[in-house]
Amino acid sequence: MVTVISLGGSIVAPDGVDVQFLKDFVLLIRSFLEADSNRRFIFVVGGGGPARRWINAYREINAQSKDEEADWIGIMATRLNAQLVKAAMGELCTQEVVINPCQVDPLTGHVLVAAGWKPGFSTDYDAVLLAERFQADAVINLSNIEKVYTADPKTDPNARPIDKISWAEFRALVGDDWVPGKNVPFDPVASRHSEKIGLKVICASGKNLENLKNILAGNDFVGTVIN
Ligand code: UTP
Repeated sequence: MVTVISLGGSIVAPDGVDVQFLKDFVLLIRSFLEADSNRRFIFVVGGGGPARRWINAYREINAQSKDEEADWIGIMATRLNAQLVKAAMGELCTQEVVINPCQVDPLTGHVLVAAGWKPGFSTDYDAVLLAERFQADAVINLSNIEKVYTADPKTDPNARPIDKISWAEFRALVGDDWVPGKNVPFDPVASRHSEKIGLKVICASGKNLENLKNILAGNDFVGTVIN
């Protein structure tokens, strides 16, 4: 069984590194692997604080900033965070960090870690491609939000949390266009492909490891299912 987790950079490195989170996350994954040694995990790591801060710096420095350049800066932040996650996994992860989700060797270890690939989308899309490649039945998208809302709860007092939503409805919420560093629950490019291949995505809070345990164990959980 292969489980793909899109591990938001906001969880691993909201500003600096969240060391306690990573320690607890490694222990949690280790416990699942001890219970079932046939299980495999793929973590696709986002850029988080470094991506956001470095992209903002570039935009401030260059009034004619280009989206593609901004994306490359974000990609490098995802690679930095992914290299850290890979190292944190120790002997559980024996393969190099994946940077092209379309060219991946068969899994040899218990854990595979991937980072950003190329401009035009986020690591959410890389996670979807890896789920397709390894026939995972879902992508677990961990970020700093507990559920998808009908609107941005920070700006709209009428925003309501959603437990379950179809891809058509979800795509109407997030739109079709990619904006570098854009903060949406699941990237529009990744959403389009997920709908096409019939993939299920679970959006949940990354900080809540008890909840993640429930998702991984197939129990009830707090989050939003998109399919
Ligand atoms: P992410 O958007 O995936 O990381 O990558 P994040 O900001 O941590 O996202 P959450 O927390 O999962 O929402 C950071 C930036 O890197 C570039 C994009 O600009 C993206 O916003 N990127 C990443 C790419 O251009 N291509 C990729 O394949 C991955």
